[in-house]
Amino acid sequence: METVDIFIKNASELITMDGPNRPRIKKEMCELSIIENGSVAIKNGKIVETGNDLEYGAEKTIDASGKTVMPGFIDPHTHLVFAGSREFELDMKLKGLSYMEILKKGGGIFYTVNETRKATNEELLKQSKKRLDIMISHGTTTCEAKSGYGLDAETELKMLEIQKKLNDIHPMDIVSTFLGAHAIPKEHSADDYVDIIISEMLPQVKGLAMFCDVFCEKGVFTIDQSRRILEAGKKYGLIPKIHADEIVDTGGASLAAEIGAISADHLLMSSDKGINEMARKGVIGVMLPGTPFSLMQDNYAPARKMIDSGVPIALATDLNPNCWVENMQFMIQLGCFNMKMTPAEAVTAATFNAACAIGVNDTVGSLEEGKKADVIILGCPNHKSIPYHFGVNLVETVIKNGKII
Ligand code: NIG
Ligand code: FE
Repeated sequence: METVDIFIKNASELITMDGPNRPRIKKEMCELSIIENGSVAIKNGKIVETGNDLEYGAEKTIDASGKTVMPGFIDPHTHLVFAGSREFELDMKLKGLSYMEILKKGGGIFYTVNETRKATNEELLKQSKKRLDIMISHGTTTCEAKSGYGLDAETELKMLEIQKKLNDIHPMDIVSTFLGAHAIPKEHSADDYVDIIISEMLPQVKGLAMFCDVFCEKGVFTIDQSRRILEAGKKYGLIPKIHADEIVDTGGASLAAEIGAISADHLLMSSDKGINEMARKGVIGVMLPGTPFSLMQDNYAPARKMIDSGVPIALATDLNPNCWVENMQFMIQLGCFNMKMTPAEAVTAATFNAACAIGVNDTVGSLEEGKKADVIILGCPNHKSIPYHFGVNLVETVIKNGKII
């Protein structure tokens, strides 16, 4: 009998996500490739085999009877690195102040920028590491992280360097995004700041980020400014992403389709035209339901309509000081309860499609032979229980790169 490092057996549901290696759309989002009474063999950090009648000797055998075994969650949109916190904004939000009103008063992102500029590298590293620990204990094994609380070349690069360091020292795999265009700093006019991003920051970002992102929104960056930045980013090999149509429909979804963005994120207000253009171009719609939840809004992104229109959908936390959440299980719950996604669609959105949204689907996002052994074991019998049993951490075991954390 062949011997492996870890052998998991008897899982009541083994979700492999086996399927085409591209974003899953429409009905495909319901297909989780579930193996009942399933087993997984892991060796040298990789998946050796999955099935339901496997026999392996192993250094460690795990009996997953009554449990769900699945790929680690992928969180494709976070603002992981920041200093300070903004719990004082809760009272303002409860009094009815909107996100934009708080931002315009110099709070919101600007408050966090001040704190982040003042913080030492050690402080930022320590605080971000703690967030990564919480994420991994809730089953996230790969995440994206954005700069954007510097708004000057020095601090933006400092954030990207910290993300790189965290990727080296922490078991979490981190994919970096440059988000110099997160807000317009008080020191500059919008157009001057766009020039600074393009001529000063982007040339230095090379090697530190895979994606370039813009907060395209009324009162922040316009469609034209966003296009300029994202097109300039492409010249440095940065793949475009965009915060689009969160508060107002500015045509962000259409811009994402026009420039070939890998994803457009938020999308609460996107027009049918924008949604159809995204579907045609295969732009992934990243749903961030934690944000309307933390802003106490009634309206969420139209995930149901987008899935039915053929937009591949992913889920992410948007972890940031306005929406402080590290837990992808909660996003699955919000996806079902507040966005009418089915449990299966939400699981696809939190694993394989999320991997596609950050370009890591060749190595993670499904449990297929030769892929990284990023596997989680949940103390519930099936995927439908992930939204059903909410408000607790269902993840009991996390295996990252073939090692039990
Ligand atoms: O995606 N909208 C812009 N950026 C973040 C919020 C950042 C903040 O408020 O600090 C978001 O929601
Ligand atoms: Fe964001």
